[in-house]
Amino acid sequence: MDLRKILIVDVVVLVVYAIAANPAVTGVGVHEWLGLGALVVIVAHTAMHFDYLAETLRHAAHRRGLRLAKLVLDALLVLAFMACCVSGLMVSGAVLPALGLYAEGYYFWDPLHAASAKVLLALLLVHVVANWRIAAAGLKRKGNEHDE
Ligand code: HEM
Ligand code: HEM
Repeated sequence: MDLRKILIVDVVVLVVYAIAANPAVTGVGVHEWLGLGALVVIVAHTAMHFDYLAETLRHAAHRRGLRLAKLVLDALLVLAFMACCVSGLMVSGAVLPALGLYAEGYYFWDPLHAASAKVLLALLLVHVVANWRIAAAGLKRKGNEHDE
């Protein structure tokens, strides 16, 4: 797949995340729908990088240590993001009522949402730094080659 298209999705993920992570700026209603929008772009992001994941595993067996560390980080990132989405939905004042639903347990889900958002931010910083060279390669190169 064209690295430039992948880079565009990476940048969209970053921008959507940056807006979604600041409910004080957008208001909580917009924040909730945008948070769900982030889910869509992040699923696209993961799907688009899947080729690279498989390719790296095949061609760079000697770099398994680093690769494994990145996989663990990615798995934690996905877990934090999922915790953030689920807890956000459970305290939602716009999305859930729009679906005709209501959830109990505000005092459990609300601190979880705030905490998972902070863990997500920390992991995302590491993820972006760890993958920056690969993402930036999209600006310079075509084709499937990419280094770590
Ligand atoms: C909350 C936001 C994000 C999540 C949940 C996320 C998640 C993931 C996951 C799970 C992978 C593993 C690849 C796969 O399984 O298909 C991955 C790979 C990657 N991500 Fe993200 N990502 C996020 C944001 C970003 C951003 C903003 C960038 C831009 C720099 C980025 C750049 C990359 C790159 C370059 C890879 C490929 C790494 C490789 O093949 O070694 N990601 N991401
Ligand atoms: C990228 C995903 C998301 C991030 C990074 C994020 C982050 C945040 C942050 C930092 C806050 C402020 C927490 C605080 O008071 O310290 C917040 C509040 C909130 N979020 Fe999210 N959120 C995300 C997704 C969602 C989703 C998908 C929903 C619901 C559908 C949601 C619903 C809410 C609600 C209702 C509040 C206000 C809670 C309150 O004031 O009691 N969030 N979010």
